[in-house]
Amino acid sequence: MRAVRTAVLVSGGGTNLQALLDKKAEGALPHVDFVRVISSRPDAYALTRAETAGVPTHVSPRKGNTQEAFEADILNCLEKDKAELIILAGFMSILSADFVRRYPRRILNVHPALLPAFGGKGFYGLRVHEAALQRGVKLTGATVHYVNEIADGGEIILQKAVSVLPGDTPEILQRRVMEQAEWLILPKAAEIAAKELLNE
Ligand code: GAR
Repeated sequence: MRAVRTAVLVSGGGTNLQALLDKKAEGALPHVDFVRVISSRPDAYALTRAETAGVPTHVSPRKGNTQEAFEADILNCLEKDKAELIILAGFMSILSADFVRRYPRRILNVHPALLPAFGGKGFYGLRVHEAALQRGVKLTGATVHYVNEIADGGEIILQKAVSVLPGDTPEILQRRVMEQAEWLILPKAAEIAAKELLNE
């Protein structure tokens, strides 16, 4: 069976991208081929991680561009690369309905909470963990889902729960959710989605 041409969209540190690259190097993602990492920020450390792993990179800056121009640049890159699957791994922009409709069940996102809790517009990065701590939940976690027109509203592929512990700060909780959930379920979901695509 062949591997699916996959692009990863990032904006920041890229620890989720690293988890994908590490699993690929271990041979755990036989049906996923990383053809490009696209960053919405030129200074994202995720770009260095991609270069180190030998994956070609591209920067589509969000800053200074309209949403239309930003998305047109990403689309152009994806089309040139013949990308079939797109993984949002710490990608901090919401893609328009027009964009998302071009790739039905072809875009995955990792979200640092158990959706539908703490999801949607305004819930990204540390803010998600701040909200969870403020609400006093005792369990949180991560979700990998398909992306549709509703922010964080697409079909769920995998979820994993993580305990909130006394004394947690947003930063401590974020790290635990990454280590115990995101870095495990994102590669697994990528392989599931790639296999599904190949079986269509
Ligand atoms: C991760 O926790 C990811 O789930 C979250 O941002 C962090 C990025 O870390 N993504 C979102 O909130 C998207 N709505 P990373 O750059 O180290 O992977």
